Amino acid sequence: MLAGAGYQKIGRNNMPYTPTTGLKSSLFCPFVVSALFILLYIGLGSVYLWAARPTFSNLIHSVETRDILRRASSLSSKIDVSRKKLILYWGSSMPNTCDYFRLIKPDPTFEDLNCPVNNCAWTEDKTKIKEADAVLFIDYCLSEPPPQGRNPRGRWVYVCHESPCNSLWSLHKWNGLFNWTMTYTKESDIYSPYARLVHNERGSSVSVLSKERSLLIAKKKSKLVAWMASHCPTSSRREEYVEQLQKYIPVDVYGKCGPLVCERNDTRCSELLNNDYKFYLAFENGLSKDYVTEKFFNMIPLNVIPITRSGANFSRLGIPAVLHLDTRDFKSPKDLAEYLKRLDQDDESYAALLRAKVKYRNQIVQPWNSYCDLCKKMNDPNEPRKSYSAEEIRKQHGPCLLPNDL
Ligand SMILES: *[C@@H]1O[C@H](CO)[C@@H](O)[C@H](O)[C@H]1NC(C)=O
Ligand SMILES: *[C@@H]1O[C@H](CO)[C@@H](O)[C@H](O)[C@H]1NC(C)=O
Ligand SMILES: *[C@@H]1O[C@H](CO)[C@@H](O)[C@H](O)[C@H]1NC(C)=O
Repeated sequence: MLAGAGYQKIGRNNMPYTPTTGLKSSLFCPFVVSALFILLYIGLGSVYLWAARPTFSNLIHSVETRDILRRASSLSSKIDVSRKKLILYWGSSMPNTCDYFRLIKPDPTFEDLNCPVNNCAWTEDKTKIKEADAVLFIDYCLSEPPPQGRNPRGRWVYVCHESPCNSLWSLHKWNGLFNWTMTYTKESDIYSPYARLVHNERGSSVSVLSKERSLLIAKKKSKLVAWMASHCPTSSRREEYVEQLQKYIPVDVYGKCGPLVCERNDTRCSELLNNDYKFYLAFENGLSKDYVTEKFFNMIPLNVIPITRSGANFSRLGIPAVLHLDTRDFKSPKDLAEYLKRLDQDDESYAALLRAKVKYRNQIVQPWNSYCDLCKKMNDPNEPRKSYSAEEIRKQHGPCLLPNDL
């Protein structure tokens, strides 16, 4: 989130998850994650102009979507349109704890998504479990026992958008039950990243930032580095990295981990970054393969350079190096601090970073875009039967990496 980055499960660094340890923690995490996504939606809605909001029609222009459309049209000859495929979203028995990754609008239908293959219907009615073609289960709600009865042709789908440092706790109780995974890892059956970057069309208004204007922006910035976070002790120990940086340069810390206040839901937070700060610390709360979240993607439309600290290989995710500085390119927080100090004195170089970045402003930050891919896959008669052991799902996520830069 813009103004309150991580949703770390507080104080649980690498400790085994015991769902019974406290109502507070079991309620807190789903609340924070769902709040996060709601706020992400609200926040981005205001960051982008409403008209520029990444709707499906905008996406038509992306290379990726064109590819999806092309693949969909080759599939369409095989689709049995006589029967809708049913997607069941499996919420929690506790209200409001699993309402993450749902279709967001009031009374939404699958058709609202305008997917290229839209032969699917959406329900949250649990009595439909025996007929559902896909049942979506959210990682942090797996502490409840698996339901009884399943459609032998249906797929149970494991959904996760957390790093393995903060997820996979209850998976062992669901050993062998899942057929597909729908996560941010590239090996996932339905790839569901936090965002997909799109290269702006050449000459589109947003992709042009003149040299003069970029220099003006650089000169107007009055502050160096900001960090906004809501959870402080993390397995990535980002909070310690920030402390070390602060020995050499000023880092303004907003949210629960610092003295400054900026409400998550306040669009002024992103304006603040856009106008006043040169750099933003987009530090993930867990370091692991492919795990890059809204902390980074939310910075793409802003005139601020994100500094990432993550376990992901960005080029593997199609994220060009010009979009960020990476702590892994520096020996230590001190080295990074010295580099930032030099850039702070060099408006020309900083402005060049801003100009390189605007070429990628168009992006999709709506995880439910992956529902289109899900529907397409559900309709593909060539999809083989398969199921996952808990261990195989863990392996797909890779380990929770411990930092080696502190
Ligand atoms: C943000 O949320 C807080 C608490 O939920 C509320 O009091 C405040 O009015 C909200 N601010 C904006 C700008 O929506
Ligand atoms: C990162 O990913 C790219 C592209 O997939 C690959 O060529 C490169 O070897 C990877 N780097 C590391 C350090 O794994
Ligand atoms: C889904 O997984 C279950 C449990 O392992 C298995 O019995 C079933 O055949 C699988 N279905 C498909 C369509 O892969």
